[in-house]
Amino acid sequence: MGLFGGGKSKNRYAIALDIGTEFVKALVFRIEKDKAIVMGVGKQRQQLSDMQGGRVTDISGVIRNCEVALDEACDEAKVVPTQCVIGIAGELVKGTTTTVYYKRDDSKERITVKELKDIIGQVQEKSFEKTRSELAWETGHSEIDVKLVNSAVVDVKIDGYKVTNPVGFQGRDIQVGIFNAFAPIVHLGALQTIAEGLNLDLLSIAAEPYAVAQSVGLEDSAEFSSIFIDIGGGTTDIAVVRGGGVEGTKMFAIGGRVFTKSIADMLDMSFAEAEAVKMDYSAGKLKKESEKYQKIKKALENDCEVWLAGVQLALEEFSNVDLLPSKILLCGGGCLLPDIRDYLETRAWTKKLPFAKQPKVDFIKPSQIHSVEDETKKLVGSQDITPMGLANLAIDLAGDPTVVEGILDKIVDGIRS
Ligand SMILES: Nc1ncnc2c1ncn2[C@@H]1O[C@H](COP(=O)(O)OP(=O)(O)OP(=O)(O)O)[C@@H](O)[C@H]1O
Ligand SMILES: [Mg+2]
Repeated sequence: MGLFGGGKSKNRYAIALDIGTEFVKALVFRIEKDKAIVMGVGKQRQQLSDMQGGRVTDISGVIRNCEVALDEACDEAKVVPTQCVIGIAGELVKGTTTTVYYKRDDSKERITVKELKDIIGQVQEKSFEKTRSELAWETGHSEIDVKLVNSAVVDVKIDGYKVTNPVGFQGRDIQVGIFNAFAPIVHLGALQTIAEGLNLDLLSIAAEPYAVAQSVGLEDSAEFSSIFIDIGGGTTDIAVVRGGGVEGTKMFAIGGRVFTKSIADMLDMSFAEAEAVKMDYSAGKLKKESEKYQKIKKALENDCEVWLAGVQLALEEFSNVDLLPSKILLCGGGCLLPDIRDYLETRAWTKKLPFAKQPKVDFIKPSQIHSVEDETKKLVGSQDITPMGLANLAIDLAGDPTVVEGILDKIVDGIRS
């Protein structure tokens, strides 16, 4: 508590800021009970030099774009909140859920807070070591250079039963799963600098695919399983949800810009012109028999194959324990390219992966994010899902943490300081 002025004020306002490679998106909302009500929306296109593959490359350029988007959203909402949740994406952000299984000596003893603290401490230790060294290995950064972005309790079970607070229960086997996302310190630091430059009070930085996965469907059922793919301008962000919990996230640096670039090369035109042509192509405005259409198709072929191989590679990491969910949910502006769905549905990319059947592909609709209500009626497309996911996380930040979350927060604070 205390995040939103001690929770005493009747209306608690906040901002969700999605600093994407292609667009900055800002939502201004108020939190009412367990819902975020969006009152203002702002959007600003970034320069090609501002961001690359989800990473900030020009801090002052990005600050200017954020200001435009924030002004637009605040004007519409007629409030200027300062508290803000910012999303982080990009190929160097990595999240995994680590689960520890713990056998208790005496199943009749009631579980105490001390015992729970020890277990959560163990999970975190194991997770930090593993994820940090993996990320360091993949990126060539030394381990010191990666830092924890966000942590969340995904799953707590006693003897197979899901519980929210295990304290006071009896039982033999405790299972605790905690999701942790890591990112290189330069990447995180840039976002902090941007928040300072905008005079925002940073409630949290959250891994975007986690935010998206968390906002759709998870409340519906403990058995909810799906693969989430957010295709933006510079990155593809993947989250795998199995049995109602986010199991991990993975990203790679291919997004809509790559497709636009290929079209620009093929048709020998500027990036901006090619972007407009791509939109026409997506909207079905080009005749299929036309030379232009054929050329675009050809230009996209190689990119789509590379992109699909990227998806396959990312999912291989989640393939060692269990079957992969046979449902894929798409969001982000890049998923509107018709070839994306087409490739996912028709190409033989699933053969080497443990799918029970060819996965079903769908687009996430803003109305599926039940906890976020849109008064502006402007949140209508795939591109709006990620900022809405961030707003959803802000609701939880405003509420009282559960016992398990409280302990996790303390341990995480200890690690960060
Ligand atoms: N109708 C469409 N058809 C094809 N591509 C589209 C369409 N609409 C938007 N895009 C593409 O989506 C991309 C922008 O999507 P989005 O706003 O989700 O990206 P971002 O969040 O800024 O980037 P990232 O998440 O990679 O950092 C652009 O590359 C744009 O060309
Ligand atoms: Mg994005």
